[in-house]
Amino acid sequence: MERNEAIYEDLCGILLTREQIAEKVKEIGNKITEDYQGKEPVMICILKGASVFFTDLIREIALPLTTDFMSISSYGSSTKSSGVVRVLKDLDRNILDKDVIIVEDIVDSGTTLCYLKQMLEGRGPKSLKIAALLDKPAGRRGNDLKVDYWCFNIPDEFVVGYGLDYDEKYRNLPDIGILDPRIYGAEK
Ligand code: IMP
Ligand code: MG
Repeated sequence: MERNEAIYEDLCGILLTREQIAEKVKEIGNKITEDYQGKEPVMICILKGASVFFTDLIREIALPLTTDFMSISSYGSSTKSSGVVRVLKDLDRNILDKDVIIVEDIVDSGTTLCYLKQMLEGRGPKSLKIAALLDKPAGRRGNDLKVDYWCFNIPDEFVVGYGLDYDEKYRNLPDIGILDPRIYGAEK
């Protein structure tokens, strides 16, 4: 695959290569396949960050499943989330009595997912689990959010690529890289 050098110049390093990601996503897909034998999970993609991970992950799950999409935005600066979550697009289908798996890109403070989990619990799913691509150190997590399936623990750096953005850019990078702080200045 051709590398877009202009995009790569904004990174101070590659954290995870596409090969490492693919291997891990396959592993998580297999685990979900084992855990949900005889079930038909509803896979929920949290737009937009989880979109790339989601499309790869569902193809590694050898089960009948359905998909749905939700778009949320958390107020705050672009490198830190504030904890106030707004639903921009809700699910299309009812999740009552369904086995639901929320697919998210990254858990940082956990505030976004905590809020979302609580909201979806209120709709009466049979079960509700979380699959996340990346998990930042749990140190500054002010909640006891449990992530059921995750691919990688990463250092406390702002990362982009494989769906993750800064200011809506870099989502198309096939690898995950650390964004050079000069791009977001002193905001972090
Ligand atoms: P939390 O609510 O602090 O867990 O933040 C989670 C959300 O913040 C994610 O869904 C991302 O949209 C965004 N986020 C947190 N860290 C990063 C990062 O390193 N790169 C890109 N987005 C991030
Ligand atoms: Mg997100």
